[in-house]
Amino acid sequence: MALREIVTIPDPVLRRKARKVTEFDGDLQKLIDDMVETLRVAPGVGLAAPQVAVSSRVIVVEFGDEEDETVEPKLYAVVNPEIIKPSEEMVNGVEGCLSVPNLVGDVDRHGSIVVKGQNRHGKPMKIKASGWLARIFQHEIDHLEGVLFTDLANQVWRPQEDETFADV
Ligand code: NI
Repeated sequence: MALREIVTIPDPVLRRKARKVTEFDGDLQKLIDDMVETLRVAPGVGLAAPQVAVSSRVIVVEFGDEEDETVEPKLYAVVNPEIIKPSEEMVNGVEGCLSVPNLVGDVDRHGSIVVKGQNRHGKPMKIKASGWLARIFQHEIDHLEGVLFTDLANQVWRPQEDETFADV
């Protein structure tokens, strides 16, 4: 595994619509392993391939139970992810992004979703997500469309030192 550089605005790769993955080859396995390592070192809770300058539809998410620190964070790697069954209910929350340094914003997201996609070997998978996990998936899947949280936020501000938010 190797660390990859996280690109930041205004790098144009962040604004490109990412390509669908069709080859589940060694390059894809290496990309996913490198993204996981890069996410953990950052540290963050989610990373999309365009954030490491690869315009492919791949995301990794690692997030634990915010209520219970004894629960091991769960790692998800999803290829060609899509959102199905978004809840009508929208929830407002504060987000940051590893590719948009020193800014956070409040974004309305679906309270729950189902993410449909493929695992790293091309096998179909579905994940039910709510709360922060649903927010992180929506943020990462937006990256694949070239959309950043600053496009969607009601307000954007510089975070206070003690402010907590999800860096994705
Ligand atoms: Ni982000």
